[in-house]
Amino acid sequence: MPIFAASTFSSGNSWSALFSEAYEKGLIGRNACNSGYDFDVYVHHGAGAYICGEETALLESLEGKQGKPRLKPPFPANIGLYGCPTTVTNTETVAVVPTILRRGGSWFASLGRKNNSGTKLFIVSGHVNSPCVVEEEMSIPLRTLIERHAGGVRGGWENLLAVIPGGSSVPLLPKSICDDVMMDFDALKEVGSGLGTAAVIVMDQSTDIVAAIRRISYFYQHESCGQCTPCREGTGWLHRTLCRLEKGDARIEEIDALYEMTKNIEGHTICALGDAAAWPVQGLIRHFRPELERRIQEAQQARSGTQYASAADVATA
Ligand SMILES: Cc1cc2nc3c(=O)[nH]c(=O)nc-3n(C[C@H](O)[C@H](O)[C@H](O)COP(=O)(O)O)c2cc1C
Ligand code: SF4
Repeated sequence: MPIFAASTFSSGNSWSALFSEAYEKGLIGRNACNSGYDFDVYVHHGAGAYICGEETALLESLEGKQGKPRLKPPFPANIGLYGCPTTVTNTETVAVVPTILRRGGSWFASLGRKNNSGTKLFIVSGHVNSPCVVEEEMSIPLRTLIERHAGGVRGGWENLLAVIPGGSSVPLLPKSICDDVMMDFDALKEVGSGLGTAAVIVMDQSTDIVAAIRRISYFYQHESCGQCTPCREGTGWLHRTLCRLEKGDARIEEIDALYEMTKNIEGHTICALGDAAAWPVQGLIRHFRPELERRIQEAQQARSGTQYASAADVATA
């Protein structure tokens, strides 16, 4: 049974080395592990496009075509690689299977909360003292995850501004929610975000939150494959609007227009990249609208030449 691993060039080289070793030791290949089964693994080097991680774009890429997601149905389980039934799984999924087989499904299911069971590879990056990748029990409180494994927030928990809990594609959470939210599917959905890839991005008070989300929106504009109009046009629109909002060069009504635009992208595209572009912007507006309004008002005041005393000046007068 062949397995295809699509990857960028540097990680592809590591994969190739690992599989060569496994072949040498007889773990895979002809009569793998003396099981009587032949089990071959092919490493396919991708060119690094983010969209080629989407399972049907990945199949297109493997077939030598442009990495553009396919319309579904049919799903790959019915019609996949070269028209054959195909299962696409993440490396993390494959990696955890031997342990589940060894220790049993009930052991794995006993970890985490009901409907959110098992372990997860969490990646903690950003403004923490020790960024890390760690396998932890599902449903671990976000604060415990950050403090136990990543050395805590730079400058202490009170210095936290916001966290993106599931990779750049999910809505951010302000500190007030991060204080006691759990890291699982249901808990993060309840607070309007998602577990996504479980890549936790920590942002302390020094972060320009509008600039951060503007930068993320640029990424999705850049990575859009361009097939669907809402994604192709919408991602550029989001990015351009955020560039202006960052400087306050906008009208207050444009905040609602921006939110509406995200709603016109979300759920209206072939693949989930459209949602991924829309959700971070929705999180920004939901939790940091006052910051967006402040920038607009300050820019308007600067344009009209009016000088207002800052809150600090008033307090010390
Ligand atoms: C835009 C986009 C990019 C994706 N990139 C990846 C990726 O890099 N790696 C990955 O495992 N899954 C990625 N996915 C999810 C895959 O489509 C697929 O659901 C997943 O690999 C299935 O594996 P699992 O069931 O083992 O999680 C991506 C999805 C989308 C919409
Ligand atoms: S949502 Fe975006 S990336 Fe996905 S298929 Fe449509 S245009 Fe391509």
